Amino acid sequence: MIALFRLDRRFMFLDISSMYGCDASLLLDETPTIVSEKTALPNLGSVRGFGIIEDAKREVEKTCPGVVSCADILAVAARDASTLVGGPSWTVKLGRRDSTTASHTLAEIDLPGPFDSLSRLISGFANKGLTTRDMVSLSGAHSIGQAQCFLFRDRIYSNGTDIDVGFASTRRR
Ligand code: HEM
Repeated sequence: MIALFRLDRRFMFLDISSMYGCDASLLLDETPTIVSEKTALPNLGSVRGFGIIEDAKREVEKTCPGVVSCADILAVAARDASTLVGGPSWTVKLGRRDSTTASHTLAEIDLPGPFDSLSRLISGFANKGLTTRDMVSLSGAHSIGQAQCFLFRDRIYSNGTDIDVGFASTRRR
């Protein structure tokens, strides 16, 4: 469920600035003409939950074939995931169209990295028309979900000054 948030973020980030729109391009698998965004480095072994969207799409197709896009299903599912864990809810406008192509290159370039500096993160969000305030509030999505250990292991064992001591100790357990 949480992964849906994540999927949605990937869309949001890749799509806000590009010409592609919020178009579910991340869901596309590799074909002879498509280099999938799933295998872009920031997504590889990380982004998940694709099966949930595929199951929902299958069900929707049974009663309303060829009408509801995967991009709309994803946007609604992300909202519902937030509501289910006690987070905020919002009205989702519908009508997104699914992409027939992907941009592996943009996925590699545009997604913010876990080791990016604050200024790089701020400018990355600004490039998408998002303010620092937007970045901070959207980053609240990390209150739930999972991260792979290799991404934060160094920091919690470094006894550095850039992390709260108590927080680091809790993470080490
Ligand atoms: C500030 C820029 C951001 C950076 C550098 C960043 C980085 C990361 C990293 C490194 C992970 C762990 C990935 C893994 O271990 O496989 C993660 C997970 C996650 N991120 Fe972000 N993220 C950012 C912004 C956002 C935003 C804006 C959202 C949503 C609005 C979001 C939602 C999530 C969620 C829900 C997870 C957990 C996914 C899961 O449980 O599978 N992130 N993020």
